[in-house]
Amino acid sequence: MPSTVGSNPQIALHSPVCDALQVHFQTVRDVHMRELFAADALRFERFSLQTGDILLDYSKNRITEETMQLLVQLAEVADVAGWRNRMFAGEKINNTEGRAVLHTALRNRSNTPVMVDDEDVMPAVNKVLERIGVFAEQVRSGAWLGFTGKPIVDVVNIGIGGSDLGPHMVYQALKVCRHPRLKMHFISNIDGAHVKEKLETLDPETTLFIVASKTFTTQETMTNAHYARGWFLQHAHEKAHIARHFVAVSTNEEAVTDFGIDPGNMFGFWDWVGGRYSLWSAIGLSIVLAVGEKNFLALLDGAHAMDTHFRDAPLAQNMPVILALLGVWYSNFFGAESQAVLPYDHYLRSLPLYLQQADMESNGKSVDRDGQVVDYSTGPIIWGTTGINGQHAFYQLIHQGTRLIPADFIISVTEPSGMQEHHDILMANFLAQTEALMRGRTQQECLTTGVTPPISPKVFAGNHPSNALLLNELTPYTLGMLIALYEHKIFVQGIIWNLNSYDQWGVELGKQLAKRIQPELVAEDSVKTHDASTNGLINHYRQLRNK
Ligand code: F6P
Repeated sequence: MPSTVGSNPQIALHSPVCDALQVHFQTVRDVHMRELFAADALRFERFSLQTGDILLDYSKNRITEETMQLLVQLAEVADVAGWRNRMFAGEKINNTEGRAVLHTALRNRSNTPVMVDDEDVMPAVNKVLERIGVFAEQVRSGAWLGFTGKPIVDVVNIGIGGSDLGPHMVYQALKVCRHPRLKMHFISNIDGAHVKEKLETLDPETTLFIVASKTFTTQETMTNAHYARGWFLQHAHEKAHIARHFVAVSTNEEAVTDFGIDPGNMFGFWDWVGGRYSLWSAIGLSIVLAVGEKNFLALLDGAHAMDTHFRDAPLAQNMPVILALLGVWYSNFFGAESQAVLPYDHYLRSLPLYLQQADMESNGKSVDRDGQVVDYSTGPIIWGTTGINGQHAFYQLIHQGTRLIPADFIISVTEPSGMQEHHDILMANFLAQTEALMRGRTQQECLTTGVTPPISPKVFAGNHPSNALLLNELTPYTLGMLIALYEHKIFVQGIIWNLNSYDQWGVELGKQLAKRIQPELVAEDSVKTHDASTNGLINHYRQLRNK
């Protein structure tokens, strides 16, 4: 719950609108959605919205028209529109790193100038896009040959976090568009088993490695990249052959050159592209190789369409804004701690994982953009898996547990495999779950529908909120829209919580400590410089390791 003690009225969650929402919350918290639906035959029309090929039904939420009006006022108080315009205009809204936030420029398909430090970034964006397209076409056509003259068959993306999750998720999602010869692989884990097992299956003569790292200093990526380079040279022997088998995607040309990759085989991007927002940049090279330039451009087109909607639509009819406000409603008023993402689509199975980084690394913060510790909840725990599998695993807790878990249900209407009966079953389950979550089942219904005793465990309270997102079809274009929808949702929530959603200082401390601990694991003498737990664990590992 927000507290107005020691409040700063500049902050939306300390504002009088928030107080009004608090009062309103008391009148809504115990109202059952069944009653809301019974009272309003037009509830679906009132609380649903179509943009492009995506339909959002948000009528199964614990809201009234007044709720949405007040929430929109909250967005106004937070100056969401002003911050949105500043982001699109290239202002340095990432204040702790002094950087602009311009993943929208990467898919600015209308090519309107976007200025950073008085320079239009669009010519550079288009140039890299063109280079990627040319390179990808060479590899896809078979013209790009490995050191023994054979075309590339396997492509390994070595990266982690934003340099892995986005491309990997999109590669899975766009399976129907994939090149018939090229197979992508994604190595992220520093667990040696990952890289070793993968390389055992590959032929160095026909494998291309993409070392994808914004900084080109990430320990996991660089260790795996060096290992892959060693593996390759064991077979190819000549360092000159590296040029046919290793390319880099980075902002750090010096480190790429030091690694031994020709800058001519490097595809750059810029510090104004956050790692978790980078799949639209050269980090998407594995996507272009897999699905071709045309489909990659369609992905960018879809994201651009969502950007345009987000920039131009009034807040009350703005899909990312609505999703964001509903999240704030549940986090800051109902006290919900998590948000489930439930794609009913095998191809979108990595979306929850991708959104975990996008959302939790962006808004998992307790110090606001002015350096003050917040006194309200910020980013929720994002979790989920494909809905149909979740139904047989954790949905029990969503239906009858003690926690309120808002859930996004995502499905595409058209299915590509020609398995219509399967798809109808999938759709029926998708709908049944959102209906069951909303309606629940009363004692009376149990009694009149022949439910066998004991009755009370079979009563469902219902009133669990969900959003339904229906894509006409999962295509590069609609996928671009969907990802951009979530990116902007995260942005809006960050603004309402007064956060800088674009830094990630919270991941640094662990990295620094790991560097300090690593030599201690092989130290001669017992380690005593940490707390008792960490010392004990290090020494336990040392002893067993040295045996
Ligand atoms: O440690 C977190 C992080 O910095 C992410 O933000 C980023 O996506 C990931 O590491 C990988 O970083 P890089 O692309 O620089 O290797």
